Amino acid sequence: MTERRNITLAVTGAGGTRMARFVLEALVKEDRVGQIDLMVSPAGRRLIAHETGRDASGPAPELVLGARPAADKVVDWDPEDLAGGPTSGSYPSWGMLVVPCALGVVGRIAHGTANTLIERAADVSLKERRPLVLCVRETPFNLIHLRNLTQVAEAGGTVYPMIPTYYNLPQTVDQFYEEFTARLLAFVGLPQTDYYAYSGTESRAHHDRTVRA
Ligand SMILES: Cc1cc2nc3c(=O)[nH]c(=O)nc-3n(C[C@H](O)[C@H](O)[C@H](O)COP(=O)(O)O)c2cc1C
Repeated sequence: MTERRNITLAVTGAGGTRMARFVLEALVKEDRVGQIDLMVSPAGRRLIAHETGRDASGPAPELVLGARPAADKVVDWDPEDLAGGPTSGSYPSWGMLVVPCALGVVGRIAHGTANTLIERAADVSLKERRPLVLCVRETPFNLIHLRNLTQVAEAGGTVYPMIPTYYNLPQTVDQFYEEFTARLLAFVGLPQTDYYAYSGTESRAHHDRTVRA
């Protein structure tokens, strides 16, 4: 049997925190993932509360999902705890996703300041040459954002903006979240069956997905 991966998922204070719910749900369901090291920044908590009406306090997995995780494989790290496991390159981790990723966080990663466990884990991913995928959400970008994003890309990170796909003709906002999540997982080597693959011959994409509440 192939080894199951540990993946770090950080949620920071940018809009679109619902995407973190979709990504975390998919990772929990994913047999190829053994453990999810979850970190939600204080601003991430505030954004989730703002976007869902949930109470910002309490365990991060429940805050992100709005329910207890279906499997016991999510580790809830305090983002202020710079001594937490993911602070070390020796801690077993396949790589890290930041969903959504605030541009302030990108700036701190780009400059190696690593003042939080999230920034340190990102720093470790880069130094250990592990995947680091930043799902940034901001528009428009200023020149500082663009330079910081370039700096992270040059250091080996991937800038993976939360930009919708349009050619699959999403009919609902949730279809945007589902499609983005499936593509993100495929991008990190966890291909999914349920997403739109362009063939070049279709006249219209199909919309037969179940829409979740
Ligand atoms: C309501 C609200 C929405 C925000 N949306 C974004 C956003 O979409 N993108 C972004 O880069 N920052 C956004 N910010 C700013 C970040 O939350 C702020 O820079 C924060 O320090 C991010 O870093 P942290 O999550 O590590 O605290 C927003 C802040 C608030 C209060």
